[in-house]
Amino acid sequence: MEFLTSLVRFFIYLSCSCMVLSSITIFKLNSVVFSVEDCEFPAIFNFGDSNSDTGGLAAAFPAFLYKPYGETFFHKPAGRFSDGRLIIDFIANSLNLPYLSAYLDSQRTNFTHGANFATAASTITLPNLIIPNGGFSPFYLVVQYTQFVRLKSLPQKTREEYFKQALYTFDIGQNDLGQGFFSNMSIAEVNASVPDIINSFSTNFKNIYNISGGTSFWIHNTGPIGCLPYILNTFPSAQKDEAGCAKPYNEVAQYFNTKLKEAVVQLRKDLPSAAITYVDVYSAKYSLYTDPHNDGFEQPLVACCGYGGKYNYGSGGCGETIQVNGTQIFVGSCRRPWTRVNWDGIHYTEAANKAVFHKISTGAYSDPPLPLKKACYMTPK
Ligand SMILES: *[C@@H]1O[C@H](CO)[C@@H](O)[C@H](O)[C@H]1NC(C)=O
Ligand SMILES: *[C@@H]1O[C@H](CO)[C@@H](O)[C@H](O)[C@H]1NC(C)=O
Ligand SMILES: *[C@@H]1O[C@H](CO)[C@@H](O)[C@H](O)[C@H]1NC(C)=O
Ligand SMILES: *[C@@H]1O[C@H](CO)[C@@H](O)[C@H](O)[C@H]1NC(C)=O
Ligand SMILES: *[C@@H]1O[C@H](CO)[C@@H](O)[C@H](O)[C@H]1NC(C)=O
Repeated sequence: MEFLTSLVRFFIYLSCSCMVLSSITIFKLNSVVFSVEDCEFPAIFNFGDSNSDTGGLAAAFPAFLYKPYGETFFHKPAGRFSDGRLIIDFIANSLNLPYLSAYLDSQRTNFTHGANFATAASTITLPNLIIPNGGFSPFYLVVQYTQFVRLKSLPQKTREEYFKQALYTFDIGQNDLGQGFFSNMSIAEVNASVPDIINSFSTNFKNIYNISGGTSFWIHNTGPIGCLPYILNTFPSAQKDEAGCAKPYNEVAQYFNTKLKEAVVQLRKDLPSAAITYVDVYSAKYSLYTDPHNDGFEQPLVACCGYGGKYNYGSGGCGETIQVNGTQIFVGSCRRPWTRVNWDGIHYTEAANKAVFHKISTGAYSDPPLPLKKACYMTPK
């Protein structure tokens, strides 16, 4: 029977007492998780911003990335805003899939095992000012969805059944908050804009769900934006928390995450056949600021590649050549990027991305608490 088969395949995480269902017995084992097999994800389709852009913005605007981006892993700029791999690369790797090709890239791309619609500086909602007239990507979430629709309609770019079996991943929202903070909105105003941003996310999510035929979804919440040098340097008088992060900015991020989590609860009701994992990337990243030594890091608030001030940020961007007192200086990497959390003032190092991946892939930061490889399963309702 189809029903029983799928029930057996279910990831069991019950808090009710044991139930007996014909010949199958499901025991309550408080907090003990067991399952019969890992999911088989033959593809990943990713939507997001620079936290998961594997070459989209660099393909659209070729001047964007230069040395020393990519130096640690790819040994050259690789379309990623880091010295190496991103969380999405570690996710692909752990699922035995190739690194995702950017949808916008016309060179050497192969979408058999998925595609990446993320571009750096992407927002969920329509941005006010887009590149080159402003700092934000024209490829916001609505456009990423329409690109997905197009890819899905192109014959043989991806095997049809892979759309159904794929893992759909999301990491977007940081720039909706950043845009507000940098446009002279008060913190309270940015905070008040959060529900609309989340509604827009839900609308796009439903559209992607509907057109994809997929059932497995993995959503990262937004990180502690107030721990990033671009916020700390720009708003130096912001109140600091015990980790030295800008507290009110992180509070807006936390409110975003509260609303996002509520939205996920609603999406599970609206889309009962979708397995949606909400991943608390905020807490995984924040632990690198409160306990850097635990993961082998130091100076988590200071950019590795940058110039100027307390946070090594603001007087010259990573990879730029600047004039300091009449002398030309190349703004390059710090000596030991593998000991650092922040790469360029906005983005994380490969080492930090790897540490965050190891934390979140176990399920310890997820709701439901399923490891990445079990993200196709739902908790019974
Ligand atoms: C894309 O990758 C798949 C699987 O890795 C391979 O079978 C296929 O030949 C590749 N397509 C192209 C055009 O290289
Ligand atoms: C913010 O306000 C300052 C001072 O009023 C102004 O110089 C700046 O251009 C404004 N920035 C934006 C993005 O509106
Ligand atoms: C954001 O708004 C929520 C809901 O009104 C409120 O509880 C929270 O304190 C606000 N946070 C900030 C930083 O303004
Ligand atoms: C779902 O997608 C189909 C096309 O596959 C479309 O006809 C339909 O209107 C969509 N439904 C919603 C609710 O978006
Ligand atoms: C540039 O010169 C000024 C004046 O001599 C000095 O105070 C400052 O420290 C110098 N800056 C750097 C980065 O060397």
